Amino acid sequence: MKILRRLVGYGRRSLAKHGLLGTLLLAIAASGGMVNALRPGHRQALRAQRQMERDFDRRYHVDTAGTISQGALDVGNRNQLFATRYEPIAVVDFAALLAGTGLDCADATFVDLGSGKGRAVLLAAALPFRRIVGVEFSAELDAVARANLDRYTGPRACQAIELLCQDAAGYVFPEDTPLVLYLYNPFEEPVMRQVADNLAASYARRPRRVLVLYFTPHCAAVWERLPFLKRTRDGDSLHIYDSGEPAGGDSV
Ligand SMILES: C[S@@+](CC[C@H](N)C(=O)[O-])C[C@H]1O[C@@H](n2cnc3c(N)ncnc32)[C@H](O)[C@@H]1O
Repeated sequence: MKILRRLVGYGRRSLAKHGLLGTLLLAIAASGGMVNALRPGHRQALRAQRQMERDFDRRYHVDTAGTISQGALDVGNRNQLFATRYEPIAVVDFAALLAGTGLDCADATFVDLGSGKGRAVLLAAALPFRRIVGVEFSAELDAVARANLDRYTGPRACQAIELLCQDAAGYVFPEDTPLVLYLYNPFEEPVMRQVADNLAASYARRPRRVLVLYFTPHCAAVWERLPFLKRTRDGDSLHIYDSGEPAGGDSV
């Protein structure tokens, strides 16, 4: 009973601090012992972080950990010049990313441009998005993501998940639902500008709620110049841009 009371108390505090989505994702992380390993004062935080990543993979039978430089990938696309290396988002960072956005994802499509081995796609699948799309131009990484999706034993609230192997610069955004665009520093300015222009054109055709979650925002200036988006969060590691609710449009 004491443990139960403690858990309920912890849950209430977490809901107040991180919101429902953040609490759910933190619970996923905690179930692998991941959060404890990051407590302040941990003597070997970096090693613990690497261990956490491996724990996620082991626990859910996937392969997402580690980094891979573009030099080691044979993409055959000139936009590879502007691509960053493969590096999965840390589970705790993904939880923090969505916490406090006040997002109701039931109607929305979540798009990860530069989805790599699919870590963020898998984490997003714990949430009841209407649809999730991962776009990765490396066939090698895309193949690993597909295998991960088949094997993943973690929580799944969204079944409509699509992985596309193509250049993000040519990706056509879905216009039938509100959109959550997630970017983990996938590419540099020329490609980012093309993606932002594509989104602006899509929004002009079909105004709808658009939320851009930009983690490690190295090309923030590209998003600042879009008049239909307003920056609603601007920490060092995360910018959020929000179109707000268009009059008479869909809601996220
Ligand atoms: C930092 S990783 C992010 C991985 C994943 N989104 C996550 O959060 O775990 C960036 C990924 O973007 C991919 N990428 C870079 N440029 C791309 C492009 N033009 N089109 C599609 N994918 C691209 C890279 O190959 C790499 O896998």
